[in-house]
Amino acid sequence: MAAEMTLVKPISKFGNPAAARRLLLPPPPRYYNHVVANNKKKSSSTIKIMMSSAAAATTKSTKKVGIKETLLTPRFYTTDFDEMERLFNTEINKNLNQAEFEALLQEFKTDYNQTHFVRNKDFKEAADKLQGPLRQIFVEFLERSCTAEFSGFLLYKELGRRLKKTNPVVAEIFSLMSRDEARHAGFLNKGLSDFNLALDLGFLTKARKYTFFKPKFIFYATYLSEKIGYWRYITIYRHLKANPEYQCYPIFKYFENWCQDENRHGDFFSALMKAQPQFLNDWKAKLWSRFFCLSVYVTMYLNDCQRTAFYEGIGLNTKEFDMHVIIETNRTTARIFPAVPDVENPEFKRKLDRMVEINEKLIAVGEGQDIPLVKNLKRIPLVVALTSQLLAAYLMPPIDSGSVDFAEFEPQLVY
Ligand SMILES: [Fe+2]
Ligand SMILES: [Fe+2]
Repeated sequence: MAAEMTLVKPISKFGNPAAARRLLLPPPPRYYNHVVANNKKKSSSTIKIMMSSAAAATTKSTKKVGIKETLLTPRFYTTDFDEMERLFNTEINKNLNQAEFEALLQEFKTDYNQTHFVRNKDFKEAADKLQGPLRQIFVEFLERSCTAEFSGFLLYKELGRRLKKTNPVVAEIFSLMSRDEARHAGFLNKGLSDFNLALDLGFLTKARKYTFFKPKFIFYATYLSEKIGYWRYITIYRHLKANPEYQCYPIFKYFENWCQDENRHGDFFSALMKAQPQFLNDWKAKLWSRFFCLSVYVTMYLNDCQRTAFYEGIGLNTKEFDMHVIIETNRTTARIFPAVPDVENPEFKRKLDRMVEINEKLIAVGEGQDIPLVKNLKRIPLVVALTSQLLAAYLMPPIDSGSVDFAEFEPQLVY
């Protein structure tokens, strides 16, 4: 399809793809095995390279370079596994509903998407047709999405390993979720091969820094990440089904079943949180719930507004798409979190838009020609402005939600 044409023709109501699980998760790393194709033959050599910018699609350096992290860059997570073990010890925690976990385990064992992720020749053909600015945008989309999925794989795999003795049922579910995420990451990485690239995931595992979150925060963040992922995938899928002229790369056709994996993952975290009512039923839980919702929504909004060309390239209006995803995710989240931001209040979107403007100025400062000291001085008022917008959004009257009843002196679950 004519990429340039679609770039100036944003349209339908919603729009944008994947990668959703980037919570406070930032954009992906730039380590590749770049497949250097010979002029004629397919024989290729594999070189680890670092892409210095999202626009760089040529290979040169063989040197590994550190990743430039920003606040918005997707991260890998680690947690306190000893505390996790205590939380899932049935001797200690009587709230664990093993029957519910058994039922969930059977669902995961069914493996509905075992044969779903099968590629065909359409991928390469579509990739070859993607030229100009849209091509690089697609590469970045695949790269970010792959990293995000891989981040889930690493965390779930380790949880599956560490909880094996304490709670084999929960541990097996984590392992099966890591199976799903590996599949998702692998499929996206195969997509990169259509563009003669591949993320070196083994190298990435070792090279990237891991962000530590206490178990409680892992629950909030991961639940949100899965649910927002679900809403992003399904929204894109439905949009492209209704507007097939924007179906410029076949990966989106897989999103319908794919997003059901993310939905199941989110439901599992919902069950985990119900088994830990102390994370849901007090004033601190309310404050943290709102904080995580806000962080995840703002991160997505700022990230996507930096990449409107991608969303517009598949016929979506970035802001409309993001607001749709935020509102739906918030409604879903309100079923379990004790409080959520009032994202349907028009003032919420106005604040998001102000943050986008400030963030654009911050990016412009970073890209300017000033010396580092001057850049930092210029950043100060902008960071203050961004922080005050965030704080103002956080302090907006929230919505009390969740399914936990606050009986006096004795909180009680009423699921
Ligand atoms: Fe996934
Ligand atoms: Fe997932």
